[in-house]
Amino acid sequence: MTDDSHPQSVPNRSREADCGRRIFLARLSLALAGLSAAIIAIPVVGFVLGPLIQKFPRVWRKVGRVDDFKVGETVKVDFLDPSPLAWAGVTAQTAAWLRRVDVNNFIAFALNCTHLGCPVHWIASAQMFLCPCHGGVFYADGTVAAGPPQRPLVRLPVRVKDGQVEVLASAIPIAGYAR
Ligand code: FES
Repeated sequence: MTDDSHPQSVPNRSREADCGRRIFLARLSLALAGLSAAIIAIPVVGFVLGPLIQKFPRVWRKVGRVDDFKVGETVKVDFLDPSPLAWAGVTAQTAAWLRRVDVNNFIAFALNCTHLGCPVHWIASAQMFLCPCHGGVFYADGTVAAGPPQRPLVRLPVRVKDGQVEVLASAIPIAGYAR
């Protein structure tokens, strides 16, 4: 009795092994190409964005004396953009929503909706922030209540220095800070 399957199975196995090697090598090449691209891209991105980031530093802006604000109230405070340009005019002005939580503590929210950046309004009677553009609604703590926004309002750092309330202004407030 002869085993005629043996002569065919060896080339088949060899072909399968060959195919497997090719797939492995193709994936390895793709992975190495991706790694090379990342190694080249990271310094380039840093080079391009680095000066921009340094150009727009964050700046503490005075927004009023501590006693100007009532405990529990949320008010809009206006201040100068951290990187005002000579020709900016009124566009150099920006704002935030500031709340005096208790005698010593304040919280501030960026004015801009986290959907597409429209300025939100504080509705004191509802204790909610409303965005007029697409109906975004945020609770008093800035979390999303309804509408298209996916992220809470951006919180801005606040401090009290020499009796003055100061908000840390950012050139791109919607980008946010660590919470
Ligand atoms: S910009 Fe506020 S809901 Fe779209």
